[in-house]
Amino acid sequence: MRWMMLLALALVVLMRSQAQQDMGNQVFLFPRETSTSHVVLKPAVKSALQKVSVCLRSYTEISRKHGLFSLAMSNPKVQNAFLIYISPPNYCNVYINDEPNQIITDPEVIEWKHTCVTWDSTSGIIQLWVNGKLYPRKVSNKGFSINTKISIIVGQEQDEFGGGFNKSDSFVGELTDIHMWDYVLSPGDIQKVMTNDYTGNVINWRSLHFEIKGDALIQPKLQCNKQWHYTKYTQC
Ligand SMILES: *[C@@H]1O[C@H](CO)[C@@H](O)[C@H](O)[C@H]1NC(C)=O
Repeated sequence: MRWMMLLALALVVLMRSQAQQDMGNQVFLFPRETSTSHVVLKPAVKSALQKVSVCLRSYTEISRKHGLFSLAMSNPKVQNAFLIYISPPNYCNVYINDEPNQIITDPEVIEWKHTCVTWDSTSGIIQLWVNGKLYPRKVSNKGFSINTKISIIVGQEQDEFGGGFNKSDSFVGELTDIHMWDYVLSPGDIQKVMTNDYTGNVINWRSLHFEIKGDALIQPKLQCNKQWHYTKYTQC
């Protein structure tokens, strides 16, 4: 009996740390600056990535540099295969294969912010969309591809595969509605993502495989902008 209870407990603990969940009503909260707290997102990748789209919402008050989405690949020579890195007050750096592509944005404000980044190896074109606004496009790493062994982390910025964190790059605040695709979203798709009517095929917030580390928490969405199509959700 005791053995069975221990096994059940172990299963519960395992399921809580290695979940697959509909996160529609939820956010990840990173409550303080650390070099440890993060969430590992488990992608469904079948072949090398030559096209990528990533969208997420973030809410933060930090005014220092911070990573929003860190994708590393199992090549120790490449630190930042695909990275969205914010330098307040008004820069977003999209790293492809370690090349920083600096995009000047409108100044950061303390509001929920919807960010989408797309990259297409065929042309090298990078698109940055913030709150539905496309900034001037950049070109980076035409012909490059991201191999299938990848590590995706939010909350910390990876300088090595699955690690190499520095608290001065960490994210503090709330993240939600994280999706990733292995193709380039059209402008119409991006509109649908913003209203939560379109989900990712590599990472899907509505069916998320993830692992929480350190102080990161799951919390309910308490406040939704009316454009988020919140009627779908019970919490807001
Ligand atoms: C962390 O980043 C800061 C600021 O960029 C830097 O001065 C420091 O050396 C870094 N620490 C480590 C352990 O890399």
